[in-house]
Amino acid sequence: MNTIKKVTWQSPSNIALIKYWGKHGNQLPNNPSISFTLEECYSETTLAIEPKTGSSNEIELRFYFDKKENLAFRLKILQFFESIHKEFSFLRDYSIVIHSMNSFPHSSGIASSASSMSALALCLCSMDDMLNKRKTPKDDFFARASHFARLGSGSACRSVYPVMASWGKNKHIKNSSDKFATDCSDWIHPIFKTFQNSILIASASEKKVSSRVGHSLMETNPFATARYKQANDNLNTLIKALMTGDLDTFGEIVETEALTLHALMMCSTPSFTLMTPNTLAMIEAIRDFRESSQIPVYFTLDAGPNIHLLYPNKFKSKVHEFIDLELKQFCENGRIIFDAVGKGPKLIK
Ligand code: DP6
Repeated sequence: MNTIKKVTWQSPSNIALIKYWGKHGNQLPNNPSISFTLEECYSETTLAIEPKTGSSNEIELRFYFDKKENLAFRLKILQFFESIHKEFSFLRDYSIVIHSMNSFPHSSGIASSASSMSALALCLCSMDDMLNKRKTPKDDFFARASHFARLGSGSACRSVYPVMASWGKNKHIKNSSDKFATDCSDWIHPIFKTFQNSILIASASEKKVSSRVGHSLMETNPFATARYKQANDNLNTLIKALMTGDLDTFGEIVETEALTLHALMMCSTPSFTLMTPNTLAMIEAIRDFRESSQIPVYFTLDAGPNIHLLYPNKFKSKVHEFIDLELKQFCENGRIIFDAVGKGPKLIK
């Protein structure tokens, strides 16, 4: 009611092709990663500032998820704000009200930290510009938003760019950094801009082990050093394939990365498994279908049991037929989310 200013951003989720798994310092990755930005799976976040009600210097925050006050999320965001308030003085000067929602259902197994933290970081940067009556140049604005998104959740830093983004130093990617992501949309072969991502929900249950814990288990994983070398090598090979449109190499690297991520979980101490029998059944079916149809369709996995099926748009109808006939039976309640490579975040107002 007493709103002084507000801003709304929609920001998408992303799916990593080279996986970020293991970090150090303040949210710095142990290896570089690269991802497709999605289109349909996004968070919409509104950040509003109001006059402060109290006179204390504490951060005043109300947080609403799907229009309902959410104290657990509020606490997470409050911690995040405490860690960055020096960069955003308005966080202490005003009372902050945040409304957030996701385009995808809460229990769909889709990780929402990438979309929600990137949407929030974009709102923070826009609000800062508005209050300081300045317009940060586009490239600097998104690099800054990516930096703060990373501090909220590592993978979120890649969501501020359209189509494809990398995060982490790599000698072949100009302006690459461990501190923020880099837009890769201008150097990849056009075929990748047409990629579809069908998310096959093997299970929508809450994850048994959070990504935060998974990352920390890399500290004692006996294969950690070899893994970080492999990720760098895989990224270099993938970059070439992305430039030339080499789908075979793309698929080989992407599938190896997905299975390596889950192998690392299985050989951590304590170990854990996030794949289910249905995940494996789908992987087998995808390999068989690719072999028999010669259609370039590949799988990848998040830190969860769900399959992300990746394929160029021109094979959509054949792949949808395959999904219906062979993969749907392995999905919880037949649940599938049809997404595709997307255009990046959108400023709503
Ligand atoms: C498997 O970004 O969720 O999806 O930085 O602790 O928030 P935090 O971790 P998070 O980890 C994502 C891991 C991954 C791989 C990836 O997206 O690169």
